[in-house]
This record gives sequence, C-alpha cells and structure tokens, in this order.
Amino acid sequence: MTTSLFGRDVIRIQDLSLNEVNHVMQTALKYSSALEAGDLLDVMKGKILATLFYEPSTRTRLSFETAMLRLGGLVVSVAEAKSSSSAAKGETLFDTGKMIEGYSDVAVIRHPVVGSAKELADGSGAPVINGGDGAGQHPTQALLDLYTILKEKGKVDGLTVTLAGDLKNGRTVHSLSNLLSNYKVKLNFASPKELAMPAEITEPLKAKGAHISEIESLAEALNDSDVVYMTRIQKERFADPEEYERLKGSYILDRAMVDAAKIGLTIMHPLPRVNEISTDVDDYAGAAYFRQAANGVPVRMALLALVTGMA
Ligand code: NCD
Repeated sequence: MTTSLFGRDVIRIQDLSLNEVNHVMQTALKYSSALEAGDLLDVMKGKILATLFYEPSTRTRLSFETAMLRLGGLVVSVAEAKSSSSAAKGETLFDTGKMIEGYSDVAVIRHPVVGSAKELADGSGAPVINGGDGAGQHPTQALLDLYTILKEKGKVDGLTVTLAGDLKNGRTVHSLSNLLSNYKVKLNFASPKELAMPAEITEPLKAKGAHISEIESLAEALNDSDVVYMTRIQKERFADPEEYERLKGSYILDRAMVDAAKIGLTIMHPLPRVNEISTDVDDYAGAAYFRQAANGVPVRMALLALVTGMA
C-alpha cells in the first residue's frame, strides 16, 4: 500500500501532518507487536538503506540499522563519514545526494551543520531522513519520543511536559516541542537563561496558541509535570569551553527531586546522559529513558517502510 509518506524526505518534524504522524505511530505499534511475537519480517526485502553519519551516534545509527535489518532489508554505510568519505575531498552534500539514489532506496544522514540533511535531500531522488543536523532538528527522535509518551501515559492530551537542559543547542527539544504543540499539552521550558529555547522555535509555537511557560527552576517545573524530558548540555556546540564548564551542572535530576515531584512522573532523556540524571533514579518505575531508546526501533521501522512505500 502506498501512503502520502511514500517517496518523502523527513527533514523537519513539521514536514509531517498529524495524520501522517498518527500513521507512523500505528505502523510502529504493528511492528512492535510483530517483534514481540518473534515474527521474521521481510517487508523491506531487497531494499537498501544508506547511513551517512558525519557526527557521533550510537542509538540513532544502531536503531536505524536494526530497524532495516528487522524488516529484512540491507544496510550500507560510510564509516567515519567526516574523515574517510568524499566530504574530506570537498564534495558537496548535494552531489553526494545525487549518487545516493544509484546505490540505495533510502538514506539517513547526521551532520554537524544545520540544513545539511536538506542539502543532501535536494540532490537525492531517494528519500532522505534527517538523523540530526547540528543544533537544528532531530525529527525521528521526536517521533519516538511521542511514541514513548503514548506508551508510558496512554495519551498526550492533557499532559504537562517539562523540557529541561540545553534548549538552545539541543535539536531533540526543537523537534519535540514542535510536535507536542499540536496537542493539548502544557509545555514548561526549563533552562539556564544562556541556554533558553531560541525565539525562532518559541515564536511560531506561541503564534499557534501553544501553552508555554519558561521557567528557571527545575524543581518548580516538576511540581505540575507529568513528564520531564532531560537533555545533555551540548558540549560540542560551545565556542567557549569555560562557558560549558560553568553550565554543565545546571540541572541534575536526582532521586530526592523525583520523590518530591508530582506522583507518577515519567522521566525521559534522548541519551546519552552525562550527569543530568543521577543513577539513583534508574530503578524508579517512571524512569523511561532506556525503554525510550528501545522504542527507536519500531518507530524507525515504520518510517523506513512508509517512505519507501513498503509498509
Ligand atoms: C541526541 C542527539 O544526537 O541530538 N542523541 C540521540 O540521537 N539520541 C541527544 C544528544 O546528543 O544529546
């Protein structure tokens, strides 16, 4: 069956309509059940995914590759793309995109520069998925975050969600706040002033009527939160290492804070964590971050199958 996602690039989360997002969620649930039942799928038999990672990645890359293999497809990848690929010889991403379609049916790119996924997609006839472009967006993370909220809470409407940490440089929170603003959600943005959510993200959300509070105290934000989404201070985006050192301990969620927060708090984190969540939180029932990482597989299976028209 082909759907409206067939042949589409996924560069920014707002590229998907709510119907399309729901379709990804439903398809992910279907694949998750199939995986749990131990079914061997061949939905993507004969199809090839190319992964181009110009920035470090563990979860995004492993879960995309796992997703493709679980669907019976194949993966080719450029190892150490930054240093060993033609990028090191000066090739543009547009030109790299031009050859992608000769090699593969779909591609995932991660790159340190905002707009890079779009440039690759402009060159490529095969669908391109943004696996993170600098401090820009990370749309597939937002999809798996939404899927996680649905699984953990059974709903999205009516929730208060706090996004905490480096809201300036963190691409996951840029995509997630955008996605959540389509629902009846109250958003708390908790960050040091220097790392506040950029106006180019907040302004369109406010214009859309999103319910947003900017708050500096994490403990205060947790009083009414159903979900807290912690993020890492994005060291690699700081021009001044001293500023990173000064801000890196800004928000640390420990067990005492969790025990004082609203009952039933769900704790999320895109990972990797550095020190934002103490390890004494890990055995708290609502600590969902490792389950969240695992949810990347069915969600990325759904997206790969939908954009290639195989779902
Ligand atoms: C995030 C990223 O790369 O933006 N990681 C991930 O994909 N799960 C978050 C981060 O690196 O802090």
